[in-house]
Amino acid sequence: MRESDVGVYGLGAMGEGFALNLASKGLRVSVYNRTAERTREFVSRHVKEDQIKPTYSVEEFVKSLDRPRRIFVFVKAGPAVDEVLSSLLPHLENGDVIVDCGNSHFRDSDRRHGELGSKSIEFVGMGVSGGYEGALRGPSLMAGGSIRGYSELEGVLRDIAAKFQGDPCAGYFGPGGGGHLVKTVHNGIEYALMGAVAETYHLLKAALRLGNDELSDLFRDWSRGELSSFLVEATAEVLAYREGGEELLEKVLDVAEQKGTGIWTSQLSLELGVSAPSIDEAVHYRFVSAMKDLRSKYSRHSCALTSGGKLDREEVIESAKRSLYLSHLSSYLQGLTLLYESSKHLRYGFDPSEAFRVWRAGCIIRSRIVERAYSAFRSSEGERPEQFLEEFSGDFRSGMVYWRNFVVLAVQLGVPVPVTSSALNWFNSITSRWIAANVVQALRDYFGRHGFYRVDRPGTFTSNWGRGV
Ligand SMILES: NC(=O)c1ccc[n+]([C@@H]2O[C@H](COP(=O)([O-])OP(=O)(O)OC[C@H]3O[C@@H](n4cnc5c(N)ncnc54)[C@H](OP(=O)(O)O)[C@@H]3O)[C@@H](O)[C@H]2O)c1
Repeated sequence: MRESDVGVYGLGAMGEGFALNLASKGLRVSVYNRTAERTREFVSRHVKEDQIKPTYSVEEFVKSLDRPRRIFVFVKAGPAVDEVLSSLLPHLENGDVIVDCGNSHFRDSDRRHGELGSKSIEFVGMGVSGGYEGALRGPSLMAGGSIRGYSELEGVLRDIAAKFQGDPCAGYFGPGGGGHLVKTVHNGIEYALMGAVAETYHLLKAALRLGNDELSDLFRDWSRGELSSFLVEATAEVLAYREGGEELLEKVLDVAEQKGTGIWTSQLSLELGVSAPSIDEAVHYRFVSAMKDLRSKYSRHSCALTSGGKLDREEVIESAKRSLYLSHLSSYLQGLTLLYESSKHLRYGFDPSEAFRVWRAGCIIRSRIVERAYSAFRSSEGERPEQFLEEFSGDFRSGMVYWRNFVVLAVQLGVPVPVTSSALNWFNSITSRWIAANVVQALRDYFGRHGFYRVDRPGTFTSNWGRGV
């Protein structure tokens, strides 16, 4: 029997979808999973796939592959990846390519690229977005690491990736963890987009007492315009979904978990000193959600209003729509700025517009905003964040009053909208020639003699601020 073209290690949701996707493109795929039962179960469900060869030991798995071997690893991020790499290594040969497709930390991928490179194994760290459906039908692929390894894979990746108007959404983002860094920031943006969606739902429910069906209709309507995106469409579906005649969303607990990529995006922004507060707030939103017991205990102190009073329904809905759109724009711009600075300061050397190219299809943050931003990057010159702002400047200007009204209403009612308000405040700050940091400088010097810069002279100055000490 001929050897397999590629291997997939790990048959969780993502590995399963990816293996079937590869097979559907005519590739012969060997699969392996630590727990043999999962492999058997997978084979029993996809028994017709004669393109797929199940294997039951690491040695059998590696031996079944054509050289240079190309192995896609889909296991839980963290120590499991190192365990899998160690188990594979004794069976590999120079030039074999290992692709870590999990949500690994980009610094782990930096390290693994170095460690495997020194053993002449080509390591590629690749972010895969799109969930099971994406993995199965066409994901967005963000690769980094060994360029030689990537070139061995490129044809396959272009075949299986999502296509935007025929263009495969797969790209290379520099050595080491470049691909995983882009996937991390993608997820950070995803956190903020979802946070803004949740807050919009919350305010409309609180202020206008809209039911889930009405809300679903609104989100569906919005998803046909400038808010067109996977997440807004998904929200419309989630709102309308019923199980046993009951709205499932009403049965879902208000506790959101996280696996780490949102926190890593915030950590990256803090480390580089690049402000991305809507991503931070979206992470905190999940932290607060998980503090359910405390929230329940403290809820007797709540000052939130139970009624929106007399409100103009159409006006509130228009504000919600425009606010969501601008919060999304602001979140993308924060993520883009972070990518831009990361690429420069961490020396991955990628062009952030390439991230927007591969985000146009297959991934969770695909949207009309991403498409329009990418077109703007292609049709003009300049730094990417500034190009983005130029492109959407008119939208910010025309929607600003609605965005403010939305936040004002939320504040008046006591509905928490940390992601939306931080998106607005960040926009206000980043577009202000002057902010009140002179007061911060002055106070630091007042109590700590930290020195301050002046507007009228170069250099660092200090003063006793009239205290005589
Ligand atoms: N689910 C998504 O929507 C999604 C989207 C994008 C990226 N990802 C990332 O893709 C990766 C795979 O995700 P997933 O949802 O398919 O599954 P998962 O639950 O994250 O991982 C399950 C797989 O990892 C294997 N595994 C765990 N520890 C192992 C170890 N020490 N040695 C060998 N195998 C080990 C499991 O094998 P056993 O069967 O033996 O336990 C199973 O095959 C993760 O990094 C995830 O973050 C997931």
